[in-house]
Amino acid sequence: MKGLVLCAGKGTRLRPLTYTTAKHLIPVANRPVVYYTLDFMKNAGIREIAIVVSPENKMLFEEVLKDGKDLELNIEYIVQDQPKGIAHAVYQARNFIDEDPFLMVLGDNLVFEDIKSVVEEFNTLKSDAVVLLARVSDPRAYGVAVLEGNKVKYVVEKPQNPPSNLAIVGVYMFRPAVFRAIENIKPSWRGELEITDAIGYLIQNGHSVKAHIIKGWWKDTGKPEDLLEANRKILDNIKEECCKGKVDENSVIQGRVSIKQKTIVVGSVIRGPVVIGENCKIINSYVGPYTAIGDNVTLESCEIENSILMDQSVVTNLSGRIDSSILGKGVRVFQNGKIPKAMRLIVGDLGQIQF
Ligand code: G1P
Repeated sequence: MKGLVLCAGKGTRLRPLTYTTAKHLIPVANRPVVYYTLDFMKNAGIREIAIVVSPENKMLFEEVLKDGKDLELNIEYIVQDQPKGIAHAVYQARNFIDEDPFLMVLGDNLVFEDIKSVVEEFNTLKSDAVVLLARVSDPRAYGVAVLEGNKVKYVVEKPQNPPSNLAIVGVYMFRPAVFRAIENIKPSWRGELEITDAIGYLIQNGHSVKAHIIKGWWKDTGKPEDLLEANRKILDNIKEECCKGKVDENSVIQGRVSIKQKTIVVGSVIRGPVVIGENCKIINSYVGPYTAIGDNVTLESCEIENSILMDQSVVTNLSGRIDSSILGKGVRVFQNGKIPKAMRLIVGDLGQIQF
């Protein structure tokens, strides 16, 4: 079975972070989101993977993931020239897929569920597709499925009046029959070829589409608050790993805290779960639960909690505590104490500052 990860989306709801990176490469608990998707595929026994990228973000992925060898995967890249929808992205991979069955995952969806047995069953059974579903209280933002036993009777994309509470998680298993279906569907109201319509086409044309309802945690990480929630969820499961860095005797480390090499902690309190990367300086500061700090970060005389700080960010001399925040690479937040006591902000397009 092959794997297909869709990463061509622009991530407009995560601007300005996505001006300089792809949304799938934003770190959650210090690992790019797409790594968790690749782990998920690997756990399902898949090694041959194609990532569908946009012309703008192709190089970013190649730089981070290369040919996949570091992750014991074979990764190749397929460019989707225009953002014409999920089904259109899948169609670009038809030569790579060839005659094989494949697992398709939306690269910004985090799914914590072991699907090895579902994949094995799909490989032996005759169904043409399997759709992963999750019960949600408000499914209006998703594709929604109606079942008959474990068979999908019909699917509808983002319905105003959902016919069930079973949302389509961004994980699907297909055989090449899906390419014929994609050739036969028309763009939706949002101008995109919807994978939900391709699944509908399969059902209407006598193919069998099965459902698998997941019990594990799942998140579409499209918005900043989703990233922070995913960060909390992953940090909740980290193992105590403290500490490859240097912590002085005036510092207090509580709970599960991972500190990488060459990081120094001086006169600070770190209350886990927290991950801290390499070569950071944490001086006279408080780092509270659910914080992920990248590499080469400096914190001095400040307090921070429930946040993501990317590499090279610097936070110094703050009187208030930073909470529920995401700082991109090289961001600087500081108070210089000089008169006049005005605030001076240099913030890129669509930045967000909340006091
Ligand atoms: C897409 C699919 C939808 C699915 C969702 C999962 O929606 O079209 O059926 O439920 O992903 O995240 P989109 O993210 O394109 O709005």
